Amino acid sequence: MKNILITGGAGFIGSNYINHLLSTDDESFVVNLDKLTYAGNLENLKASESKKNYRFVLGDITNIELVNYLFDKYKIKYVINFAAESHVDRSILGSGIFYQTNVIGTNVLLEAARKFEVEKFLQVSTDEVYGSLGKEGLFTESTPLSPSSPYSSSKASADLMCIAFHRTFKLPVVITRCSNNYGPYQFPEKLIPLMIINALKNQSLPVYGDGLNVRDWIYVLDHNDAIRLIFERGKAGEIYNIGASNEMTNLQIVNLVLKRLNKSSELIKFVKDRPGHDKRYAIDSSKLRNELGWKPKYDFNQAIDHTIDWYIKNQNWWENIVSGSYKNYYSKQYNNR
Ligand code: NAD
Ligand code: TYD
Repeated sequence: MKNILITGGAGFIGSNYINHLLSTDDESFVVNLDKLTYAGNLENLKASESKKNYRFVLGDITNIELVNYLFDKYKIKYVINFAAESHVDRSILGSGIFYQTNVIGTNVLLEAARKFEVEKFLQVSTDEVYGSLGKEGLFTESTPLSPSSPYSSSKASADLMCIAFHRTFKLPVVITRCSNNYGPYQFPEKLIPLMIINALKNQSLPVYGDGLNVRDWIYVLDHNDAIRLIFERGKAGEIYNIGASNEMTNLQIVNLVLKRLNKSSELIKFVKDRPGHDKRYAIDSSKLRNELGWKPKYDFNQAIDHTIDWYIKNQNWWENIVSGSYKNYYSKQYNNR
């Protein structure tokens, strides 16, 4: 058995990862440590909850005693750290919790991983640590770090800490830096689910600035396949970019959603831009493709259709979110914009 601590496994990417892993692998024993913040949802894990090789633990990665207890109790030898505060706009409204979880929390996990001599520690990072691109060029693993938001600066700090733990303590850390994900179970504060849900409710679609910012979209299961491969075969101390070479402006995404749902483009509302808004992200993932043989499997048009269908069919899932405390965030973020 491979005993893996997966943190943040009740969130969007982590829950997709656990559900997929446990449906295809009996040799892994997964302990999912998640604080169940607003973004964590055990409903995402229905497919895994009754598996004998799965345990859920409600707790915070910044809790040193709990983390050490779990490493000891479950003889943890592998870590995949998904847990994070993950939304740029929230980091602008209040940054403290981002540094607590994303920096201090990662430090607690690294120290425990060192103490219990883990065989692999995979840090799930983001292309946002590189900052913004102009019209040309792609992020490579050697692009200098230049984060713009409290969120991305906290992720960059964690990356630097991971590299230092590899250099100083020989901890077998690998870092993945992926571009923007979409797919089922994504919290509706992020661009694609927010636009799908607003369009379904015939509410306005708030586009920041001129809508010409570019993101490089990847289906969540392609991201997770890459993580799995890097977890198994990635070299300690290395960084791997993950991306599907699928650049789109925000307006292209919003228009596509409206078209698929047969809604009028009059729903689009241009609102005040996000402060420090990165203009363009685009990933060069040739290292991962050439060294480990990864390539994305999902076609964007099919995967986005599947995602839109998922939100249509799983109205209960997002109704629960939209009707609860998320409402307060939404009015704080979008009123007076
Ligand atoms: P998410 O916000 O959907 O989920 C985060 C999860 O972490 C939630 O279940 C939450 O409860 C948990 N969590 C938060 N603070 C915690 C704490 N202190 N202790 C334990 N659990 C805690 O995020 P996501 O979109 O699934 O992102 C997962 C990871 O992938 C993050 O590290 C993020 O930076 C990275 N990432 C995300 C994207 C993307 O497009 N969403 C792209 C690249 C990288
Ligand atoms: P987001 O999903 O928050 O991801 P990130 O900022 O981490 O890339 O936003 C994606 C893009 O969509 C980004 O350029 C900001 C823009 N955006 C809007 O125009 N309106 C919105 O309501 C949101 C949430 C995002």
